[in-house]
Amino acid sequence: SALGRRLKSTAAAASAGAVDPASLDWDELGFSLVPTKSVTLFKYKDGKWSSPEQCPPTLEVSYWANMMHYGQSLFEGLKAFRLQNGDISIFNPQANCARMNVGARRLMMPEIPEEIFLEGVKQCVIENQDYVPPASAKGAALYLRPLYFGAGAQVGLGPANEYIFGVGCTPVGAYYKGGALKPIDAVVPEQFDRAAPLGVGNCKAAGNYAADVLPSSKARDEGYQVALYADAATHSYVEEFSTSNFVAISGDKSTYITPDSPSILESITNKMLSKLAEDRGLKVERRPVKFDELDSFSEVFAVGTAVVTSPISSITYKGKVFKYDSCEVAKMLFDDLTDVQRGSKEDKHGWHYTA
Ligand code: COI
Repeated sequence: SALGRRLKSTAAAASAGAVDPASLDWDELGFSLVPTKSVTLFKYKDGKWSSPEQCPPTLEVSYWANMMHYGQSLFEGLKAFRLQNGDISIFNPQANCARMNVGARRLMMPEIPEEIFLEGVKQCVIENQDYVPPASAKGAALYLRPLYFGAGAQVGLGPANEYIFGVGCTPVGAYYKGGALKPIDAVVPEQFDRAAPLGVGNCKAAGNYAADVLPSSKARDEGYQVALYADAATHSYVEEFSTSNFVAISGDKSTYITPDSPSILESITNKMLSKLAEDRGLKVERRPVKFDELDSFSEVFAVGTAVVTSPISSITYKGKVFKYDSCEVAKMLFDDLTDVQRGSKEDKHGWHYTA
């Protein structure tokens, strides 16, 4: 495989500020930035993509760049893992490329050809391969952060005439303090919505995350680890968590239920977990989910690249508290997904990318 540990990197020295990978304690990583050696950048100008360049993670862009003012900016999140034989697998990157292009179409940015996207993630991983945690570090991965934005200078509102697509990376462990699978409490913000029905909620647009900073911070101040958003039109349907999708397990444990809505970011992890749930004989329902139903579920969990499956112990909605004391299915699917990622369970669905 081209991602084997013996590959020579082509870039010059590590950027100033990069952490020495030999100094890292892989079992103690949380979800905080560990500066790595380099980022991989492509530029788009006059209808053409440049060759990739390895650069320090500090960019020089115009003050007038579209993304600074008008927010033509999309990102992605995916992970790379070290397998037992030392090879590195990037997990399902084609799905991230497809999703970034959903956003590109909506924000009127040129679509990124899949070969450019895959070359970017591959080069970033090869250059930073010393930051891929060893196979023995169970909860750890190299988190890849593709970023795509309007870089051309302008003052009138409209699409940029130049773009940058990049891939950066940082080693990570569990997203929430307390580790993977430690149940957390959620609250539905009453004063804030995440996304309008026909807005950009289904895109991984930077602005969706800016809109969440205040509600999430308020939720934490009130003692909840995560915010759970309602639909903006009626506030009676479940949409998604601050950084991740919503999954519920029916009372009889037979069905994996996840909301369908035009303003939800379509989680790739959710789609993969749905497949693994079906492999385990569960039914999968993707349909509108009413807050009225919260009483009937046996389990609720948050799913995403960063959180994997994070069990929810309670949901506070309009002063009512719904409690969940089981996380059996969340744990089973967590093990199934992370076992496939680490190569200790068969990759039936073809998610490993090692080419
Ligand atoms: C991810 O889970 O990869 C995301 O992009 C969410 C982010 C807020 C950490």
